[in-house]
Amino acid sequence: MPSLVVVGTQWGDEGKGKYVDLLSERMQVVVRYGGGHNAGHTVVVGEDKFVLHIIPSGILHPGVVCVIGNGCVVDPDAFLAEIEKLGKQGIQVGDNLLLSDRAQLILSYHRLQEAREEERLGARRIGTTCRGIGPAYEDKIGRRGLRVGDLRHPDFMRQKLDYLVREKTEALGIPEQAAKLRASIDETLKRFRDVALPHVTDTSLFIYRAMEAGKDVLFEGAQATLLDIDHGTYPFVTSSHPTAGGAATGSGISPKALDFILGITKAYITRVGAGPLPTEMTEPLGETIREKGAEYGASTGRPRRCGWFDSVVVRYAKRINGLDALAITKLDVLDSLDEIKICTHYDYRGERIDEFPGEISILAECEPVYETLPGWKVATEGTSRLEALPENARKYIARLETLCGSPVAMISTGPARSATILDMDTRSLSGLERWLPRH
Ligand code: GDP
Ligand code: IMO
Ligand code: MG
Repeated sequence: MPSLVVVGTQWGDEGKGKYVDLLSERMQVVVRYGGGHNAGHTVVVGEDKFVLHIIPSGILHPGVVCVIGNGCVVDPDAFLAEIEKLGKQGIQVGDNLLLSDRAQLILSYHRLQEAREEERLGARRIGTTCRGIGPAYEDKIGRRGLRVGDLRHPDFMRQKLDYLVREKTEALGIPEQAAKLRASIDETLKRFRDVALPHVTDTSLFIYRAMEAGKDVLFEGAQATLLDIDHGTYPFVTSSHPTAGGAATGSGISPKALDFILGITKAYITRVGAGPLPTEMTEPLGETIREKGAEYGASTGRPRRCGWFDSVVVRYAKRINGLDALAITKLDVLDSLDEIKICTHYDYRGERIDEFPGEISILAECEPVYETLPGWKVATEGTSRLEALPENARKYIARLETLCGSPVAMISTGPARSATILDMDTRSLSGLERWLPRH
């Protein structure tokens, strides 16, 4: 039962969507196992650009069944809007989408709670996507959340909402708005129920049976290792487990069923929102990379902070996720640089640090230590053969492999499917060959 887990190794937006789309060609099932529509996964096909938020990035491939697993939080309005948008772009969503009966619902009070909390934090705010993700996971852990399967039990749902809407509006200091809020939630859920119920099932059982029948399953991570609620830069993290372990709990399959773990890694690093980014570039270089790499959030449009490649981060991601290989993206964005820096380790009060620290107060005092490699100053955009890469670009990749202790199995040189180097020596070493597209 061959399965592949795709995880982000940095702070998100590494290009997971592009690789998930590419690797879906030879998959039968693609599963999102965590997060919600805070994710923005971009897939470029010819002139068309698709941005997937809660729907898995395998949806463009006919014959692939996409699954939104139990570890996800689903906003009914966002779910409906995404299906509608895909429809307008010529992608029909029907039997090719399953939604876990155990996934949690994000309702409008979650967004209100989050806006209030971010406002309260002021300068200390997390800089969340304001999609209600955190408060929905809080309700899940607090055992008061509503789940997709509850849609099948209208009386139960009504009673629970009576209580929840009252409690939330009181806590927010807007008890007078309870009736209005409730009416809008009822209206949303009615529209959602009609569209969603045919997709709702026990997706853990579906995935189990698919694997038993020998089908190929891809688990699509959203967010990234450094945004993990436990392993990320707490509290500047999301509220779920984007790491590989989350693929098991977030889809209801055994950890033993995860075969291959692929870490998606940008050739530099970015972060959206607040929180530490040790290798953040100074201006105007950060701006240059932001413009060349179009580093603006796929979900919120916010500018992404840019930094040099941090091998402390990616080594950490290798350990936490058990990465079998790396897939590099956005090598082309570095084309114009004279010199490229790589952070090899940190200096903390004169002491060498090779392992990513657990506390952000320590991280704040960590000085990245860099080595500098010469740039290649040749356009690589669209390159699809390793041999065609300039020598300095190949040396850069080789250095990343050594520093991260992980083979690089694929390199992306542009948003398009064809702008991908697949003829790496490491592809057979790493065992990924089975899923590489045949073109
Ligand atoms: P994800 O959240 O990890 O799926 O990544 P996003 O879609 O948020 O951000 C990645 C962005 O980089 C998207 O706009 C992609 O189209 C684009 N992209 C992916 N790979 C490459 C690449 O190799 N080169 C360039 N220039 N852009 C890329
Ligand atoms: P993809 O899947 C980048 C960040 C937010 C914020 C923090 C918490 O496209 O890589 P949240 O709304 O989740 O409570 O916000 O996490 N964040 C992301 N950053 N890419 C993402 O997803 C992200 N999802 C959440 O910016 O810092
Ligand atoms: Mg993204």
